[in-house]
Amino acid sequence: MEKRYGTLYGIGVGPGDPELMTVKAVRILKGVGVVFTAASTKNDYSTAYQIARRYVPETAEVVPLPFKMTTRHTARRQAREKNAKKVLPYLETGKDAAFLTLGDPLTYSTFSYLAQALKEMEPRVTIRVVPGITSYQAAAARLLVPLCEGEESLLVVSGAMGGEALRNLAGDVDNIVMLKTYKNFGDIAKTLEGLGLRDRTVGISRCGLEGEAIIEDIGRFENTHPPYFTLLIVKTKREES
Ligand SMILES: C[S@@+](CC[C@H](N)C(=O)[O-])C[C@H]1O[C@@H](n2cnc3c(N)ncnc32)[C@H](O)[C@@H]1O
Repeated sequence: MEKRYGTLYGIGVGPGDPELMTVKAVRILKGVGVVFTAASTKNDYSTAYQIARRYVPETAEVVPLPFKMTTRHTARRQAREKNAKKVLPYLETGKDAAFLTLGDPLTYSTFSYLAQALKEMEPRVTIRVVPGITSYQAAAARLLVPLCEGEESLLVVSGAMGGEALRNLAGDVDNIVMLKTYKNFGDIAKTLEGLGLRDRTVGISRCGLEGEAIIEDIGRFENTHPPYFTLLIVKTKREES
């Protein structure tokens, strides 16, 4: 008889407020035997788990998977393969498992890498995704800032390389969401200033989490970092009067 594998669900838990988890995410989470969380190589803390923990069954095993925060391609690939090898034996027992992701699992998330490594290792495994509310959707709601209207365009971009993407693309779009701003915030702020967009930018740190803070003036971080969970929304065009 052919082996029956459990399903791996990539579950988006939303950006912080547990009430922003979907009904579907909660229902599926309540039925799994194992919950995987993404952890750093330094500790097992998972913000996504903290958001979802009230819905995780007491009987479920919680397994942190260390993902290396590195730009080295080989090291990242090795970490994914190692983690896929840890997930597979659970699915082989026939039990369903969940992998928790902050926000949405297919938006700048380690889940997509894990899913790919797992599929390459065992194509018979079933993988499903439960979308989550992204950090920037929650931020727009909190700040009451439209992400895009009418015929406008919206660019979602990473700030991991500093202001580079803004220098290349800001002239061609109406609205920009920048995630991963933490490390190179100084360069991002300087770039926005240079493009005349400083007063067209609003930011938020830890949206929906403890310590939430709105950033009205990005210039205040010239010489420091905001928290890791910080994003920016830029409206590039002046409103017509
Ligand atoms: C690896 S990405 C994860 C994105 C996530 N999957 C999503 O759907 O929003 C991490 C970045 O998302 C942004 N982020 C995630 N949660 C946030 C929150 N609660 N408040 C502000 N920014 C957040 C930050 O820019 C952070 O550097």
